[in-house]
Amino acid sequence: MTINLVLKNCKIVKADGILEGNIAVENGKIADIKIAGLPEADEIIDCKGKIVLPGMVDAHVHFREPGLTYKEDFSTGSMSAAFGGVTTILDMPNNKPFIDTQKKFEDKRKLVKTKSYVDYGFHFGVSSENLEEIKKVNAFGYKVYLSDRERITYEDMQKALSMVNGKVFSVHPEDPDLAKGINRPIEAETTAISKVLEMNFYGNSVNFVHSTCMEAVDLVRASSKSVTNMVDVPHLFLNSTHIEKIGAYAKMQPPLRSHENVNELWENLDKIDSIGTDHAPHTIEEKEQEFEIAPPGIPGVETALPLLMNAAYHNRISWEQIVKLYATKPAEIYKIKGKGSIEIGNDADFVIVDRKREWTIKAEYLHSKCGWTPYENWTVRGFVEKVFLRGNPIVDQENLIGKKGLGREMINEKSNNSM
Ligand code: DOR
Ligand code: ZN
Repeated sequence: MTINLVLKNCKIVKADGILEGNIAVENGKIADIKIAGLPEADEIIDCKGKIVLPGMVDAHVHFREPGLTYKEDFSTGSMSAAFGGVTTILDMPNNKPFIDTQKKFEDKRKLVKTKSYVDYGFHFGVSSENLEEIKKVNAFGYKVYLSDRERITYEDMQKALSMVNGKVFSVHPEDPDLAKGINRPIEAETTAISKVLEMNFYGNSVNFVHSTCMEAVDLVRASSKSVTNMVDVPHLFLNSTHIEKIGAYAKMQPPLRSHENVNELWENLDKIDSIGTDHAPHTIEEKEQEFEIAPPGIPGVETALPLLMNAAYHNRISWEQIVKLYATKPAEIYKIKGKGSIEIGNDADFVIVDRKREWTIKAEYLHSKCGWTPYENWTVRGFVEKVFLRGNPIVDQENLIGKKGLGREMINEKSNNSM
C-alpha cells in the first residue's frame, strides 16, 4: 500500500468528539486514522497539534449559472468556497432560466462541468408547470419556493411529493399571502411550515432551508415526519438592526430577525439540524438601489467558517457542533456519500485551521465576484490555513493551489425516481 499523504499530529474534529492522531490518505480517500505510527508516505504534513476539520458541506449556495453570471459564476463561487474551507456545495436552481426541466438540468450540468474548484451537486427546481419532470432527474435536492405562487402552490407541492419517493425537498417556507414585499413576518414562515407538515410526504423528506427562529425550529421538532431544519448563517450573525446600518446589503428573504430572536437560536443550537450559508450574491449596483427594490440575498460561503470559528473562540459553539451542523448533518440530510466527516473510506477533504489567528474580514480579501460582504471590518479569530479536496491541496494560506475543474459533480446514486 502506497500512502500518498499523511497528516500527523492533528486534532481531528468529529461531530461527536475530538481525537488526537494522524490521518493517512490513499487515492483521495481516508485510508487510516491512528493515534500513532502511520506508514511511510509520499508526503507528510506535520499539523503540530492544529485543528483538522472535514471539508465543510454547504448545501445551500447560489452560484448563478446560467444566466446571472454578472453576479457570480461557478468558478468564482467555488473558489470563494474553497478559501472558506467548504469543499462540497449544493447549488440552487433559481438561475436564468429556472432549472425545472430535465433539459435545463442537463444543460446546466454540461455548462459548469469544467468550472468548479470544489465538489458539487445540484438542486432541481420544482414548479407547477413541470411537475412531471421531477421524476426524470436525479438531484440531491428538490427546491420549492413557496413564497412565489407564480412558481408553485401548496397544492402542487403536495402533488410533487406524491409523484416520487426517497427525495429530499428543500423548502423555502414563506406563505405567499403573509410574506409580501419587504413585509415578511415570522407568521409567514410558521404558517408555511405548518401547511407543509400537514402534507403527505409519500416517503420523501423535507428540509426547511431557511429556518430563522425558534418557532420554526420547534414546529419541525414536534413533527413525527421526516423533516429537518437548516438555519442560514446570516440569521445567526446578523439581525434587523443591521438593516439600519447597511441598508439593502442586509436584505434577504426570509428577512433578518430581531436580536432577541437571534440569541434564542444561539441558545438552542442543539435543536438545530444544520447550517447553510444561502450564499446569495448580488452586485453592489443592485444593492445600492432603494431597499424596496434591491434584490434580496447575502453572500457568505467564504466567511461562514471563520465566523463560526470565532464563535467557538468565544465559547458560543463547540468545534464538534460546527462539524456536525455545517458538515456531517448536511451530508447526511442530502445523502452525499463520502463527505462531511473524517472517517476511514470517506473522501480526504480537510481543513487545517489556525484557531488563534486573528484577522479582519474585508471584501478585497474575498473571492466572490460580487465584491462586498456584510461583515466588512469584522475582526475574527480563526483562519482557514490549508484546504484539501480528495487529498489534493487546493488552498494554502492566501494562495489558491487547486485547479479549476478539479471539483467533480457528485452523483446521487441512491435516489429513487419510481413509485
Ligand atoms: O434572500 C434570498 N436570496 N432569498 C432567496 O430565497 C433567494 C436568494 C437569491 O437567490 O438571491
Ligand atoms: Zn437560497
